[in-house]
Amino acid sequence: MLISVVGTGYLGATHAACLAACGHEVVGVDTDPDKVARLSSGRAPFVEPGLDELLGRGVASGCLTFTTELAAAAAADVHFLCVGTPQMPGSHAADLRALESVVAALAPHLDRPCLVVGKSTVPVGTAPRLAQVLRETAPAGDAVEIAWNPEFLREGHAVEDSLHPDRLVLGVQSDPADQVLREVYARAIVDGVPVVRTDLATAELAKVSANAMLAARISLVNLLAEVCEAADADVADLTTALGLDRRIGPQFLRPGIGYGGGCLPKDTRAFAARAEELGVGVPAGLLREVDTVNMRQRARTIDLAARVLGGSPRGHRVAVLGAAFKAGSDDVRDSPALDVAGTLQARGADVHVYDPEAGDNARRARPGLRVEPSVEAACRDADLVLVLTEWEEFAGLDPVSLAAVVRTPAVLDGRLVLPVDKWRAAGWDVHALGRGSG
Ligand SMILES: NC(=O)c1ccc[n+]([C@@H]2O[C@H](COP(=O)([O-])OP(=O)(O)OC[C@H]3O[C@@H](n4cnc5c(N)ncnc54)[C@H](O)[C@@H]3O)[C@@H](O)[C@H]2O)c1
Repeated sequence: MLISVVGTGYLGATHAACLAACGHEVVGVDTDPDKVARLSSGRAPFVEPGLDELLGRGVASGCLTFTTELAAAAAADVHFLCVGTPQMPGSHAADLRALESVVAALAPHLDRPCLVVGKSTVPVGTAPRLAQVLRETAPAGDAVEIAWNPEFLREGHAVEDSLHPDRLVLGVQSDPADQVLREVYARAIVDGVPVVRTDLATAELAKVSANAMLAARISLVNLLAEVCEAADADVADLTTALGLDRRIGPQFLRPGIGYGGGCLPKDTRAFAARAEELGVGVPAGLLREVDTVNMRQRARTIDLAARVLGGSPRGHRVAVLGAAFKAGSDDVRDSPALDVAGTLQARGADVHVYDPEAGDNARRARPGLRVEPSVEAACRDADLVLVLTEWEEFAGLDPVSLAAVVRTPAVLDGRLVLPVDKWRAAGWDVHALGRGSG
């Protein structure tokens, strides 16, 4: 099957490479010529385990090509829309301009029957509007059908999640559209991946609802951490006890500086904004609280750091270990780690950041921060070390040798990843939200 993937960022590049690995002929289209050049050489423009290998194989076989020319997508049987849907400046709603402009630009090329499949995360009710534009402006008119097939991949596990997803959600309006998508995903379906066939609106909601539930879980556990602090209880033991409850389970139960990245924060806000438009604003207040609790974690981390530093970060040298919004990725979009680092710097600290993968992106996003090439360089003469991304490298640090590098052996574990006893035995003061020690 000939497939186009429009928008080849984290989602689209992974999707294109995985489709090619599943035996399809794929053309990826993006407006960013640097990204296209890099992808055309078989390399991803971001860090994602296993992706370079898939891209390399696909490009070498000739089944996977990348271009800036949308016209190259014209002959495809299926077009996946994978462009960004960020938060609208000055509002909590999703900014759909890239998606709308792609549909407007693609439509004139569609002169034969085909399926246009939305994969970007959108507010419920978006697909019918795009379908109308396609019907009215594509030469093939009604022969162009729309479907929605949300993507649930996790950065850091994107290849694995794309090839072996927990489920496939197919939002379709006809049996032929359903059949086309089942052909696209034939390998995964043969492997037993469950398929949920549904309507467009439910498919759109499936993604934002999943993110809302994950975000709510994280904020709930962060609320528990704050209560633990107030009650002199231990949140790590508490979440262990909760996670052993089979109705709850251990996933997404680690408290810390809160969630970030290119999806959870903006999707939770956009969901609440859309619910408001639909007249469901009062219960959507729950999601606004989820966001408030999440952002509060960053402020609480900065307050705790200031307290450990004797009242103010000003004039202190501070090491921030972690810049990516989570381990396994170089993505720094809305990264809590970088946000905290930037605020500490703005409050007068001399901040030195290290991240195993996200250093270059951190430098670009926050040119004012000093990004160092190693843990030791970042921690040299530090008055406080903050661990703000849950990289294994940080969890496995040797506190004895690091104690010899810093000025003061004080660490703030923003992700609850450090073995506290080992660090304390090496002479460190260990602080963490939810542990009562702060
Ligand atoms: N990143 C994730 O983990 C993930 C997971 C699931 C869903 N999503 C959703 O997927 C969508 C894309 O997210 P992303 O993280 O890949 O974003 P991204 O910013 O990495 O990629 C978007 C790409 O679209 C390109 N683009 C913008 N306008 C274009 C146009 N007119 N024509 C062609 N290309 C254009 C950009 O150059 C960029 O490469 C969003 O809706 C996001 O919420 C992302």
